[in-house]
Amino acid sequence: MAKGSNAGNLRLDRFLSNQLNISRNDAKELIKKRLVTVNGQTAKLFDMKINPDTDAVVSEGREVVYRKYIYIMLNKPAGVICATKDRLTETVLELIPPELRRQGLFPAGRLDKDTEGFALITDDGVFAHEILSPKKHVDKKYFAVLEKPATESDVEAFASGMEIDGGDVCQPALMEITDNPNEVYITLHEGMFHQVKRMAEAVGNKVTYLKRVQIGGLELDEKLGLGECREILHNEMEKIYAKK
Ligand code: URA
Repeated sequence: MAKGSNAGNLRLDRFLSNQLNISRNDAKELIKKRLVTVNGQTAKLFDMKINPDTDAVVSEGREVVYRKYIYIMLNKPAGVICATKDRLTETVLELIPPELRRQGLFPAGRLDKDTEGFALITDDGVFAHEILSPKKHVDKKYFAVLEKPATESDVEAFASGMEIDGGDVCQPALMEITDNPNEVYITLHEGMFHQVKRMAEAVGNKVTYLKRVQIGGLELDEKLGLGECREILHNEMEKIYAKK
């Protein structure tokens, strides 16, 4: 057994299965075929204990880089729901390609079925809670097409913290009118159910198209087509908490 390999507490077959997104049996098969090394020594036992932070695991000649959690940016298309599974409707998790799939993935927050744009998928519950908590001030920015042109008085109503149907009082929100007054950007500090649509209705308007374009300071990658996703890079994670 490789030196240092007793320091950890994770079984090698479980580590390989989690990190390579393969079944436990496939992980065992790799070990059986002598295709896995730990700190340069061929691994012989499925249940060999490793320390993922310090042991170097190589499978089929490639280093298995340990990531405790994964963070995925998905450009959600309309018609797909932000849920982990559903009997009838396609979920965001079904759009994640096999190489990024892992156990425990879920969407951090919900976009409506007809909303497009930036959905964040992760297996890190603490992070998800943080970016959704209004206390952490991770703003969400949306692009909305409205039935009627937006006005300066709408901008003021959004900024004042309006009451919407059902008596919910919103925190002040930013509405930016583009060159086309039917198209606006709306930045929210919180995420109430159908909030953008309900705020638009509260000023006598209607959202006909909605897309989330930014979470915190991190913009949706415009290279991602609808339904495409990619991992969020390490340096981009900081942007989520940064104001823009
Ligand atoms: N506000 C809405 O009305 N819908 C969404 O999907 C997100 C924000």
